[in-house]
Amino acid sequence: MRIPTALTIAGSDSGGGAGIQADLKTFAVMGVHGMAAITSVTAQNTVEVRAIHDIPPHVVVAQIEAVADDIGVDAAKTGMLSNKEIIEALAKPLDRYGFPLVVDPVMIAKSGAKLLRDDAIEALKRVVIPRATLVTPNAPEAERLTGIRITGVREAREAARMIVEEYGAEAAIVKGGHLEGSHSVDVLYYKGRTIEYKMPRIHKDTTHGTGCAFSAAIAAGLAKGRSLPEAVEVAKRFITMAIDYGLPIGKGHGPVNPVAWQEIPAERHRVLEDLAEAVRILQSNQAQVAKLIPEVQMNIAMALPQPYARTPMDVAAIPGRIARHRGGILVKASPEFGASRHLANIILEASRVNPRIRAAANVALVEGIEDALDRMGIEARRSQGRLAIQLREWGEVPDAVVLGKEPGREPLVILFAPRASEVAGRIVALARMLD
Ligand SMILES: Nc1ncnc2c1ncn2[C@@H]1O[C@H](COP(=O)(O)OP(=O)(O)OP(=O)(O)O)[C@@H](O)[C@H]1O
Ligand SMILES: [Mg+2]
Repeated sequence: MRIPTALTIAGSDSGGGAGIQADLKTFAVMGVHGMAAITSVTAQNTVEVRAIHDIPPHVVVAQIEAVADDIGVDAAKTGMLSNKEIIEALAKPLDRYGFPLVVDPVMIAKSGAKLLRDDAIEALKRVVIPRATLVTPNAPEAERLTGIRITGVREAREAARMIVEEYGAEAAIVKGGHLEGSHSVDVLYYKGRTIEYKMPRIHKDTTHGTGCAFSAAIAAGLAKGRSLPEAVEVAKRFITMAIDYGLPIGKGHGPVNPVAWQEIPAERHRVLEDLAEAVRILQSNQAQVAKLIPEVQMNIAMALPQPYARTPMDVAAIPGRIARHRGGILVKASPEFGASRHLANIILEASRVNPRIRAAANVALVEGIEDALDRMGIEARRSQGRLAIQLREWGEVPDAVVLGKEPGREPLVILFAPRASEVAGRIVALARMLD
């Protein structure tokens, strides 16, 4: 099967947060081959737009023709079109190739800079919107296009309907990012119906590029053959995640993080594979490992990498733990996310102190263990009180921490390493040392 292809017709953001840079990242994680026709080069960061240099209209058109003639375009989107001449030049190629087209009527950057000249808005309405499969204005853009003052879902629906029924787009979605409320609601008008897409509002500053990535994700969905409502549904989940895991870089609005969409599932898979490897290591040395199983039983856990590790649900471990059993060990179940609380919280704290450390296990504080650790070249530090607090105070994560006897708690040793398989290897080495 040929990979679906998507084209962005938009400006370049030198800061990498919006524009074609955001679009190409989005296309890549959505599984389509991304292509770009650049309309304008902006000198931009998270705070401001410093310079804008528009590309000659015939060069914009030439970029579209070059990819459409050879590679083919399954769907396209427009972003910053900058001026009237570029917009008017688009009429011919859009008619000639007829690909599904998502029009993001970009007018103003997050930082407040104007990205579309005033005299171009009429051209947008006349040339591009009637050829659009979907138009994706934010609330201020919808106001500018329709003259309807938008304060909520009701007016958003009105504006979306007007863009379809009066300006001739096939569908329109008025986005709720600029509106108030606990949820960010987008209102789609399509085939005489309205559909609302609602997700919790995220109170974060990482919103540079939301509109670009959102419209690119919809175009990618169309390129893959999804229906419009389906493509929007996926794009809505995608953009919420991209804002939630946005990149806190720069002094202004940090860029959204489209890569989270693929990176989180990929990393979850890697964590489970590494834990499975850790279990194999422990099982093939079970006679020795059994000696280190504490009364509370042993667990071994590993977290997603930062910035994705936030709660115990982002840490995988063995449900039911690892018990001693007939001179060996019994691993109660396959590793799962959310299977531990105690160890998970310790790892979450450790990986905040040192992001490289993502795995840990608890072993019994048996006689001679501190000596054995010492001979292995591992310095074990003693922790008083809550380990999480102690790690923060130390400002580093030791390879081993001794949790001494306290009322109601069995003394333990916690071993830390970047990966669970390394922790398992150390448990085995330690157990042999005790022989
Ligand atoms: N804080 C937020 N929390 C959750 N979703 C949001 C938030 N801000 C925007 N969104 C969603 O992101 C998508 C883009 O909407 P938004 O209104 O931000 O577009 P935009 O203003 O065109 O963005 P840009 O300024 O990048 O061009 C929509 O689906 C919107 O609901
Ligand atoms: Mg926008």
